[in-house]
Amino acid sequence: MQRVGIVAKTRALITGITGQDGSYLAEFLLSQGYEVFGMIRRSSTVNFERIAHIQDKISLVTGDLLDEVSMINLLRQSRPREVYNLAAQSFVQTSWSQPVFTGETTALGVTRLLDAIRIVDPEIRFYQASSSEMFGRVLEVPQTEKTPFYPRSPYGVAKVYGHWITVNYRESHGVHAISGILFNHESPRRGLEFVTRKISNGVARIKMGLDSTLSLGNLDAQRDWGFAGDYVKAMWMMLQKDTAEDYVIATGETHSVREFCEVAFSVVGLDWKKYVVVDEAFMRPAEVDFLVGDSGKAQRALGWKAEVEFPSLVEMMVRNDLECLHP
Ligand code: NAP
Ligand code: GDD
Repeated sequence: MQRVGIVAKTRALITGITGQDGSYLAEFLLSQGYEVFGMIRRSSTVNFERIAHIQDKISLVTGDLLDEVSMINLLRQSRPREVYNLAAQSFVQTSWSQPVFTGETTALGVTRLLDAIRIVDPEIRFYQASSSEMFGRVLEVPQTEKTPFYPRSPYGVAKVYGHWITVNYRESHGVHAISGILFNHESPRRGLEFVTRKISNGVARIKMGLDSTLSLGNLDAQRDWGFAGDYVKAMWMMLQKDTAEDYVIATGETHSVREFCEVAFSVVGLDWKKYVVVDEAFMRPAEVDFLVGDSGKAQRALGWKAEVEFPSLVEMMVRNDLECLHP
């Protein structure tokens, strides 16, 4: 008797699926034919706005980076081949007011998940969402995989821990664990507290007559800003390599917060200087003044390259916020 074979889809588990990157990565993995599982934590209200459009195509399982047993159970339930650890307390400013919570989640959470993997299935391929924030007060320009770290916030310190524990589980337990050192990446799904979305949303509100000013902190800070949709592809490409190595993902261009304002206000024909006010409340106790990455290794080894350029990214975000206010 001939049996019709059913080809099982590759399974991936994403922590932080309700966040900006998690939603783009879930979409991308679905487009690659994956069966996608997402870890969600218990909350008193649902916050599925970013994944509402794909909710019927993915499986959501509950767990928390603070609770190792929950992750052991969800790995047993979902049996993934790939795990993408995107969950974190990811807002730098909050890390000064909640340094211990940030460390528990963003640093020790990585160890809990790696341990859960070691216990359930050490063959799982693991991606850790490391950050350019680890470079902090930069010791080299541009920053590469070899640039030493000098974090400037409890968040940056926690990410350095997450990076090194990933390297350590690779070296001491043989886990196929990769750390992607991603520079800032933005999108219309960016949280409203991050500066790019705060600006694009502020511009839209001013244009619609809902606000008359936009309060910001340090306008001189410079960042290497790319598009989140491009960056999640890099995460996947890294995990497809048979050798586990770390990669920097960046555009190679840097722009100041002031320049971001200039371009964003110009999208709606306004002069940013008339609306932006500097408010000390948004200044940081220690600032990361300047970041620019060199993604040469990823370009050569993975064939990855940032597609969306700075002016298009800013325009995409402003137009989306206008649309949200006035559909
Ligand atoms: P985000 O939008 O803030 O999303 C964070 C996600 O983590 C949310 O889904 C959140 O769930 C989840 N989470 C937080 N604490 C958790 C816990 N204790 N247990 C389980 N889930 C928890 O962040 P993002 O911008 O997508 O960034 C994704 C990852 O990349 C983060 O690790 C971030 O630090 C890192 N990263 C981001 C950038 C960037 O520019 N975006 C650059 C470098 C690295 P709730 O929805 O329930 O809050
Ligand atoms: N959030 C915010 N709000 N930032 C402001 C403001 C403001 O009103 N005004 C100026 N800034 C400056 C900050 O001081 C900082 O130098 C820069 O804008 C960017 O701030 P954020 O958008 O909050 O991002 P971030 O660079 O601190 O952190 C993001 O990127 C990291 C990668 O380098 C986050 O996504 C982190 O999770 C990520 O690791």
